Amino acid sequence: MPDKKVTVLDVQQAKDEGRKLTMLTAYDYPFGQLVDLAGIDIVLVGDSLGMVVMGLDGTVEVTMEDMIHHIAAAKRGIKNALIVGDMPFMSYNTSIREAIHNAGRLMKEGGCDVVKLEGGVDFAETIEAIVKAGIPVQGHIGLTPQTASALGGFKTQGRDAESARQLIEDAKALEAAGCFSLILEAVPSEVAKILAQAVRIPVIGIGAGPHVDGQVLVTHDLLGLFDKFVPKFVKQYTQIRSVILEALEAYRDEVREGVFPAAEHSFAISEQALAELKKSLGE
Ligand code: KIV
Repeated sequence: MPDKKVTVLDVQQAKDEGRKLTMLTAYDYPFGQLVDLAGIDIVLVGDSLGMVVMGLDGTVEVTMEDMIHHIAAAKRGIKNALIVGDMPFMSYNTSIREAIHNAGRLMKEGGCDVVKLEGGVDFAETIEAIVKAGIPVQGHIGLTPQTASALGGFKTQGRDAESARQLIEDAKALEAAGCFSLILEAVPSEVAKILAQAVRIPVIGIGAGPHVDGQVLVTHDLLGLFDKFVPKFVKQYTQIRSVILEALEAYRDEVREGVFPAAEHSFAISEQALAELKKSLGE
């Protein structure tokens, strides 16, 4: 993408021109800045926040206030990337009116460019209403972590012909409802390929193989910063935890040994001022 703000039109153009889209998560200013500096097209302030930043067991407990706080923080570091704000569990499930209200809050108070929500054909009406209100929506189908317990756990979806066909129907329904793009999570590569070809809008995969229009990962997973588990679809590009730990332990040791702070980290006072001070203290 060129060095300018990415829009939903650029995202569509990427698929039309056969360019793969890149998307990563960020939840605060430094990571927003780094992901943006790396030239990633789309930054997702995802509700994975609950697990990788807040230390919760899942995403269900994440609130609108948590999302607004973190979208606003990440946004301060982002210049170009399209910013996606994730709608937390139960912020769009109870009524269409509430869904529009909450999507609007993520945009107005958090500052995201678009919102994302989980669900297939059952949420088409809600998505259509949010889009009509002027808020672009990214869909999320396949493994939907907010409703993982209803799916029987964090399991690959669309493994039999009937559920794969349903996923393709979901994708078509979300496209018809006005989604500008879809996230497709934990689905066999061949099913993802058929699905991505069945819709015009870009399909961004996570655990959906290489034949989709782009890829998304949780940044803390690819950096090796999240300690609890590594999903099969994650490639760890580094083990940043050990780098950080080494630096923290070096600091601990240097403070204990009196090595830090050295002269270059300390402030000086003139000899004259020091002499006056000592005199005034009667030394
Ligand atoms: O919240 C999140 O980070 C997500 C990704 C897994 C796509 O929804």
